[in-house]
Amino acid sequence: MKLDVVFSPQGLCPADVAGRTVFVIDALRATTTICAALAHGARAVVPAPTSEDAVRVAQSIGTQDAILAGERDCVRMPGFALGNSPLEMTSEAVGGKLVVQTTTNGTRALLTTQGARAVFAAAAVNLGVAGERARLALEEEQNVLIICAGREGAFGLDDAYVAGRLALAALGGRRVRRGLNDAGLASLDLVRRYGDTFLRPFSYSEAGRHLARLGMADDVRDAARLDAYPVLPLFRDRRLTIAPATPAT
Ligand code: MLT
Repeated sequence: MKLDVVFSPQGLCPADVAGRTVFVIDALRATTTICAALAHGARAVVPAPTSEDAVRVAQSIGTQDAILAGERDCVRMPGFALGNSPLEMTSEAVGGKLVVQTTTNGTRALLTTQGARAVFAAAAVNLGVAGERARLALEEEQNVLIICAGREGAFGLDDAYVAGRLALAALGGRRVRRGLNDAGLASLDLVRRYGDTFLRPFSYSEAGRHLARLGMADDVRDAARLDAYPVLPLFRDRRLTIAPATPAT
């Protein structure tokens, strides 16, 4: 059994993800926002590495169907209809739409997963469904990778804590050490340190403090709501859609 956590996608190479079931976490805020969009009726979320790519993709889809969403330094990109707040992903805004999203760390982390067996987006807001899928994947395939988006190549406390919660769920609640890499062990220690509530590690994290300074503390609170958007985004064919109920192969 192999359950690896990486605290940042930096340095990951195709061989690290090849053939594995992968979970990508950017709790503040990209994967939370993806869950919110799909839970509110978006047909799909299409991650794009840059704003230029996002505009190109949106243009190729057409203005009726696509809506641009994204941030740099947490602030909505100029000319985009939406930023990267889960609270903006209302049914009115995204229902029936393809949300073309570009963010600083989260969408880039998703885009490092080419060659994986299956890729899911995870956060506190979908931990129940993501944890169950991770448990199944570990049971059946004995091999799961959890990628934290982190902050520009560095450790992020918010993502690392969620990685610990997800790893624990994948292990069926058993705090075993066998098969975990060091980052996996450290993520479990964070769960021991912070207990059950997401809000503490989220508010203490650099990402959380930065959002609060920008007046976006409501987003941090929203992202900390366990299972608030209980959908499992599956990243396949360059877009995230709600995963079918049975494991995707
Ligand atoms: C990111 O991808 O870096 C984030 O989701 C930043 C944010 O908008 O909070």
